[in-house]
Amino acid sequence: GDPRVERIASAIRVVPDFPKPGILFQDITTLLLDPKAFQDSIDILVERFKDKSITVVAGIEARGFIFGPPIALAIGAKFVPLRKPKKLPGEVIFEEYVLEYGTDCLEMHVGAVEPGDRALVVDDLIATGGTLCAAIRLIERAGAEIVECACIIEIPELKGRERLGDKPLYILVETKSPFTEDE
Ligand code: PRP
Ligand code: MG
Repeated sequence: GDPRVERIASAIRVVPDFPKPGILFQDITTLLLDPKAFQDSIDILVERFKDKSITVVAGIEARGFIFGPPIALAIGAKFVPLRKPKKLPGEVIFEEYVLEYGTDCLEMHVGAVEPGDRALVVDDLIATGGTLCAAIRLIERAGAEIVECACIIEIPELKGRERLGDKPLYILVETKSPFTEDE
């Protein structure tokens, strides 16, 4: 494998029992403290997507705003923020979704993504996949094509990948044991 991936993986901190007992939280803020590993994570994604004619990178608030913009700039695509409710001033479309801890909603500006756009959706992590599914629905409602979804890490036990159906998902780092046995 790519030796950069091991460095990225070891830069991600795993925090037990956050935000609730039994969950091992995958904390990417420690990756951001290691400029080499952070740069490598962006470089690998840019290498993967630079020749795929992507016209828009959609980043999911909040942690998708960390990884999406540097990728968008490097591949010459526009960046579109998918935001939590009541943050965007223009006309929006929205999609609600069920999270591990409650329900939430993503909004996108009308006109930011257009028919014919080729989209890459970026977030830090896929757990149940509910967040990414809402993002996919927003982009497809705008008439664009999903080229791929990309996350730094996944929690395989939650089977988010299955929820995405036939939408391609690229994960940078495989997680080992995100949950305790009695979860
Ligand atoms: C986290 C994470 C993903 C989402 C994954 O975001 O950053 O966006 O959960 O969960 P899912 O696959 O089960 O939908 P969260 O909404 O907790 O907030 P943040 O990004 O604003 O920190
Ligand atoms: Mg998030």
